[in-house]
Amino acid sequence: MNNKQVRLSLLSHAGGAGKTTLAVNIGYELAQRGYSTLIIDLDCNCSLIEFCGVAPTPENIELVFNPKFNGNYPTQAIFGTDKLQIIPGSTQMSEVMNSLVGKKRREYYLQKLISTFPLVHDFVIFDCRAGLDLLSDNAIAASTHLLIPLNMGVKIMTGGQLITSILETIADLELNPAPEIMGIVPNKTGKAAYHRQFLQELPEICDALQVKLYQDIPLWQHLENSGVEARPLKQARPGDKICQNFSLLADDLERARNGQ
Ligand SMILES: Nc1ncnc2c1ncn2[C@@H]1O[C@H](COP(=O)(O)OP(=O)(O)OP(=O)(O)O)[C@@H](O)[C@H]1O
Ligand SMILES: [Mg+2]
Repeated sequence: MNNKQVRLSLLSHAGGAGKTTLAVNIGYELAQRGYSTLIIDLDCNCSLIEFCGVAPTPENIELVFNPKFNGNYPTQAIFGTDKLQIIPGSTQMSEVMNSLVGKKRREYYLQKLISTFPLVHDFVIFDCRAGLDLLSDNAIAASTHLLIPLNMGVKIMTGGQLITSILETIADLELNPAPEIMGIVPNKTGKAAYHRQFLQELPEICDALQVKLYQDIPLWQHLENSGVEARPLKQARPGDKICQNFSLLADDLERARNGQ
């Protein structure tokens, strides 16, 4: 067995696509399977702590990007299990990234940090800010895998354009090995005719982009409620059928970790 650390970036073109929702629910599923999993909030909206019921704290990602960082990651266990931890986000992340702008190899800052101070976890999930910027470049450069939730409220071509931009970023950064694009997760699908049409067109679009298309996640009130209650869906409603969507994603991540 290979057992390499899998580091996953959640990327989306638009806000509200479901990155944090996926991070929390996939993270919980992996932790339930016994894997130590760390979710790192790279978004200055800091919404991860809200999904986890954690109070804002100065012990957050800003410390990691501090030039004096000593490898003591500010992790916190969540949902009553040590297997699942987070590093909370910081509202000051834009300023932190601005301080990198003049630096050489600024896109590789996070990658370098992690290689200097290795994380002990089996899985690391980067909950990114919407769009592509210096911070998402850092996340991409530090990742082994990328996953793209696609809000069905946004035209599908936007998702296609995002993948094209990600592929360009990977090429520009000359990442070797390049992170693997796990696939697209259509999210918040409903009964509207244009949603059905997008869903019908998606397989062909994903084929052309050579990325996997995951089972869509419908607009699901129980999922939204679980976020508001600061619980993963599986903890709030263990038998909920949407837990299966997260389980299938965790299966692929588990396979990636085991080198299959
Ligand atoms: N399938 C779904 N059904 C219902 N509500 C959902 C679903 N997916 C996500 N949500 C809700 O939509 C909102 C946005 O989701 P989330 O915060 O995960 O997106 P995001 O991509 O992280 O957004 P941002 O870029 O703003 O951080 C949240 O309130 C979440 O609970
Ligand atoms: Mg988010």
